[in-house]
Amino acid sequence: MNFSDLVASRASVRKYTDQPVPDELVMQLLEWAHDAPSGGNLRPWEFILIESAGQKQAVVETTFAGRDESKSNPQKWILTAPLVIAVCADLAKIKGRYGETSIWPHLPYLDCSAAVENILLGAVELGLASCYVSGFHEQELSAVLGLPEDVVPIALLPIGYAAESPARRPRGPVAEQIHRERY
Ligand SMILES: Cc1cc2nc3c(=O)[nH]c(=O)nc-3n(C[C@H](O)[C@H](O)[C@H](O)COP(=O)(O)O)c2cc1C
Repeated sequence: MNFSDLVASRASVRKYTDQPVPDELVMQLLEWAHDAPSGGNLRPWEFILIESAGQKQAVVETTFAGRDESKSNPQKWILTAPLVIAVCADLAKIKGRYGETSIWPHLPYLDCSAAVENILLGAVELGLASCYVSGFHEQELSAVLGLPEDVVPIALLPIGYAAESPARRPRGPVAEQIHRERY
């Protein structure tokens, strides 16, 4: 698929078939993620692959939809995905190089978002689908994933074959959000 078609056909999918995702496709997604740009070339991401029903359920229980952060509002649709990739960041790697700068708290999110976008677009290229999920309680998810102290979860990416074809979500004209020289 050419790049224009790839970008235009990516959409957040929230319903998947039972068909498992072959290991070689998962590895390809993670290779593409690892090719993303990264501040200082530190590549601080750590990927956790979650496939078992029990661990998926535990992960979903740490999530919430929209602005209602209560425990009774988990993103249950994630359970339809045969695979969930938890994208995490190793803060120690970043602190070691940038800990004295004002930008360092942002770097885990900036770095991992670049890797996430490669996975989201790569999924489309491979006939798969995904959705960027950041609605989770960080400390609870860290505990479920067994993260060491300096590793934090950044995103959950359910991955699978789409069982829905969402219409392209509305976007206003980009021209309205372009400025020249100054805002
Ligand atoms: C940083 C970020 C966090 C998001 N978190 C969630 C989430 O927790 N749950 C969810 O269903 N979608 C989540 N989304 C997906 C957005 O809702 C989606 O990208 C947006 O509605 C546009 O739709 P599209 O991806 O189909 O273009 C997130 C997207 C981004 C970029």
